[in-house]
Amino acid sequence: MALLLALSSICLIFLVYKRVKRISIANIRGPPWKSWLYGNFPELFKGEAAEVDFKWQEQYGDVVRVRAPLGEDRLLVSDPKALQYIYQTSGYRFIKPPGGKELRRLLTGTGIAFVEGEDHKRHRKVLLPGFGGPEAKFYVPVFFTQSGKMASKWKEMISTSDEQCAVIDVHSWTSRATLDAIGEAAFDYQFGALDNSAEPLTVAYTNLMFDTFAVTTDNSALSMCLMDLLPQWIVRLFVQKAPIKRLEHLRTAHDLTVQVAKQLLKEKYEALAAEKPKRDIMSLLVKANLSENPKTQLSVEELVGQMNTIMFAGHETTATALSWTFLELARRPEVQDRLRTQIREKERAIFARGDTEFSVQDLDSMPYLTAVVKEVLRFHPVVFNTVRQAAQDNVIPLSKPVTLTTGKVVQEIAVPKGTTIIASIAGYNRHKSVWGEDAHVFDPARWLAGNTNKEVPIGVYGNLFTFSGGLRSCIGWRFAVLELHAFIVEVINNFEFSLTKESERIRREACGMMAPTVEGEVQKGSQLPLRVTIASRQ
Ligand code: HEM
Ligand SMILES: *[C@@H]1O[C@H](CO)[C@@H](O)[C@H](O)[C@H]1NC(C)=O
Repeated sequence: MALLLALSSICLIFLVYKRVKRISIANIRGPPWKSWLYGNFPELFKGEAAEVDFKWQEQYGDVVRVRAPLGEDRLLVSDPKALQYIYQTSGYRFIKPPGGKELRRLLTGTGIAFVEGEDHKRHRKVLLPGFGGPEAKFYVPVFFTQSGKMASKWKEMISTSDEQCAVIDVHSWTSRATLDAIGEAAFDYQFGALDNSAEPLTVAYTNLMFDTFAVTTDNSALSMCLMDLLPQWIVRLFVQKAPIKRLEHLRTAHDLTVQVAKQLLKEKYEALAAEKPKRDIMSLLVKANLSENPKTQLSVEELVGQMNTIMFAGHETTATALSWTFLELARRPEVQDRLRTQIREKERAIFARGDTEFSVQDLDSMPYLTAVVKEVLRFHPVVFNTVRQAAQDNVIPLSKPVTLTTGKVVQEIAVPKGTTIIASIAGYNRHKSVWGEDAHVFDPARWLAGNTNKEVPIGVYGNLFTFSGGLRSCIGWRFAVLELHAFIVEVINNFEFSLTKESERIRREACGMMAPTVEGEVQKGSQLPLRVTIASRQ
């Protein structure tokens, strides 16, 4: 109790201090809040992912003032020019919020996603070659091996059922298959998830995001905000030691990853010395580190951190995007048929030229497949927002003027140092001035019509903000897109999806990402039950 009192008074002093120093953003329009203690956070974090973004975007426009707990104003932004400025033009002047640092240290280690400024430049430079075009052709066979393995297990399930059809929790499979794929492509490590391995690391990466971040309560949102206000040593102690179940799963995943990464590092050095280097990303990093140039070197801790980062940033994101794809296809038999027709045409062309497998070029040259994937990434951006903080006082330009509560109309917004910006990726991806009046409709055909880019370009792929943009955009976007293409080709070529009673009630559950759950069954965790049959060859 005494501790609690002491903590709250520290908070208060911090708050008053901050308030006094601040240029105000209080006259930006935004929703009313019910409590000083929680602000708008209960609405922002509960309910389906990004629903409130759409509601507030509609009501208040592209820059919305939202109240964080304890009276702090933040901005929820979906204005294209503002996002372009914050993520691209301003360089490193908007940083990841320092208050989340200790939690991020646990999530991603001290790898590329963690560091700022010059350190980030160095990490990015070292990692980029591993994610470039030339490497892609080595990953594609890995994606086909894992998707093929998943497909043969599904065929077994279907052939042993009486009705020649099975209801499969597709998400548990995409999750395991992509775990095996990223393990192999990035680290040459076998998770064995499709074989139901009970290895501790494999278990640790099962449902990690859901266990850690799903079903936010008012108080878990509040504790995230307290992390901004308390001294970092207290936060660190809390994150590392507090007996909280959510954090325990995360700690296990972090610690086991560090252990395995160190072992792998040793093996990579040995393979390199024996002149038998592999092509996985970690091997490339180890090789790059042998150069004399300090700009391309990483410490052991930093390199180990890349494994934490890539596992965290690359696994469940791709798995979930794949699950949303299969759900949309189950909802739309005509889209599924058209896609299957294109895949089989391509397959015939590949066989006709004497090859047996889809190459990178083949995967990239199926316009309808590309359109479906882009539309899924637009409609279901699995990372639906990202957060930044102004490292100094700054002025954010806008695409569209904003009317303040005072009635004044402004074309730019002055933000004081320390202002937290929540970039609504979902909001931008459904922005009507970018995507047209039908922005809230799922329609792959919009990509074939080619009328999708009417605003300032901000993203790395398809003018989407799904992979963010600028200096800190997703380094794995090409890896992810190829993985999605390969998995979809394998699965849609072989199977047909349709909805079940449960999958008519799928929710986008917010858990740092948007994971599929069945309405009313959130306690069962993420799931996507679909009816699967063999796709006929006629
Ligand atoms: C559909 C799949 C994916 C989505 C939607 C996605 C989305 C994102 C987003 C929005 C960011 C920016 C986060 C921020 O700035 O706060 C990001 C960063 C990052 N992503 Fe991805 N990602 C995906 C797949 C991958 C994959 C497959 C990998 C690696 C194999 C990967 C590695 C990374 C890394 C390392 C960063 C940090 C980059 C930096 O800070 O410079 N991602 N991703
Ligand atoms: C990379 O090289 C530097 C300089 O030789 C060294 O200090 C560092 O430990 C190396 N990093 C790894 C991961 O081995």
